[in-house]
Amino acid sequence: MRQSSRLYAIVLCALTIVLLAQCKHDPPITPGSNGTTDTLYTSTPYTFSQTIGGIYSYRKVKVPSDNPETYEGIRLGRMLFYDSTLSINRQVSCGSCHKQEYSFGDNQRLSQNVHGPTKRNASTLVNLGINSIFFWDGRQATIETAVDDALTHEQSPDMSALFAYLDTTPVYKYLFGKAFGKPVDNAPLVTEDKIVKAIAQFIRTLRAEDSRYDKYNRGEASALNAGELNGMNIFFDQQKGDCVHCHMDAPYMTLANVNVPMRNNALDTVANVSQFADIGYGQVTGDISDYGKFKIPALRNVEVSAPYMHDGRFTTLEQVVDHYGSYDSLRKSPTVDPLMERLVYPNIPDLTAQQKSDLVAFLKTLTDTAFLHNPDFSNPFH
Ligand code: HEC
Ligand code: HEC
Repeated sequence: MRQSSRLYAIVLCALTIVLLAQCKHDPPITPGSNGTTDTLYTSTPYTFSQTIGGIYSYRKVKVPSDNPETYEGIRLGRMLFYDSTLSINRQVSCGSCHKQEYSFGDNQRLSQNVHGPTKRNASTLVNLGINSIFFWDGRQATIETAVDDALTHEQSPDMSALFAYLDTTPVYKYLFGKAFGKPVDNAPLVTEDKIVKAIAQFIRTLRAEDSRYDKYNRGEASALNAGELNGMNIFFDQQKGDCVHCHMDAPYMTLANVNVPMRNNALDTVANVSQFADIGYGQVTGDISDYGKFKIPALRNVEVSAPYMHDGRFTTLEQVVDHYGSYDSLRKSPTVDPLMERLVYPNIPDLTAQQKSDLVAFLKTLTDTAFLHNPDFSNPFH
């Protein structure tokens, strides 16, 4: 008797879990306004606001013509981004490694994918809509191909099982129909291409443009205090920090040079380029002059995206600034960037302790707190 009631309780519990799991997918299906089935396949176009005026206006988000942004596509992408059913072991979603609180990066040096630890530190996902080079080694040129790459390498879903799941979950069925229209000639409603496109649409909405530094540039002089202003000058001064050469795409404040984005910032000493632990961009081009070069990351929200660098070697901004600010900490190698000025001109004085702390204070003004808490970006299943 006791046995069977325990069994009953377990079954009841399991049922509740299943039902709850279904609940989180509960579709708020709204019938088409004129009641026809075709309205089920009509999407609502989404346009990016170009909110900020002047030369510091946000660089226009590039939207590919074959993947226009729609409210339904973005909503679908957000769900797929956070749904661990998109992985072979059903335990890993994009959101497992790209966490909003860390500007969609990870606080772990390496994250756990379905095969084990990742090869590199998880990138932040912020303002990528204006970017055209993706991953630390620059191996992808569009958000769509980057999403496909990430899905395949980090999550390796069983595609046919995934399609079956998405096809039979009402809210997904509804959103795929709305976002991408009615399939013609008996084509499937759910495809890998549409999964990737929807996630890319969501990623393009992850815009941060309201840090204190943005406010300062929009004319709110009081947004930065004296120490932060001094840090800003160090950032821009070629005889001091000289961060500007690589980390500033001036009119757009992306703080990443998008024209020559692959560089070697003197992290490792090697006599021969084949000795780099990770050859980075060299892997992509096969050119030995690219060995040891990595993508210049955006410094947006850098305060919350520790650890730093492609291998997450630095755990604090103080360590990063120590690296750049002293001649002795810079490492020589054949591909080191000539814009690492302190290495080229050893007469440039090292940064003082005060200058370093002001520079760190300035880097923290790049944090957009509203972005980190924007409910539109959060996990819809929580
Ligand atoms: C297991 C952890 C993990 C998961 C899961 C994961 N990523 Fe990543 N992501 C990473 C790592 C690590 C990198 C950097 C890899 C590299 O550069 O080689 C990265 C880089 C990226 C980039 C490049 C960003 C840039 O600025 O260059 C994009 C875009 C991206 N991921 C999107 C996604 C999407 C979309 C998903 C879900 C389909 C996803 N990731 C799932 C760990 C993960
Ligand atoms: C020669 C170009 C260059 C210069 C100059 C430069 N950086 Fe970098 N920076 C890079 C590259 C490239 C990376 C990524 C390197 C890697 O991970 O291998 C990087 C990474 C970083 C990161 C880590 C970000 C993250 O998300 O992991 C921070 C922070 C940073 N730089 C700050 C600065 C500051 C502050 C200065 C000035 C004192 C500066 N950089 C000067 C090219 C440069």
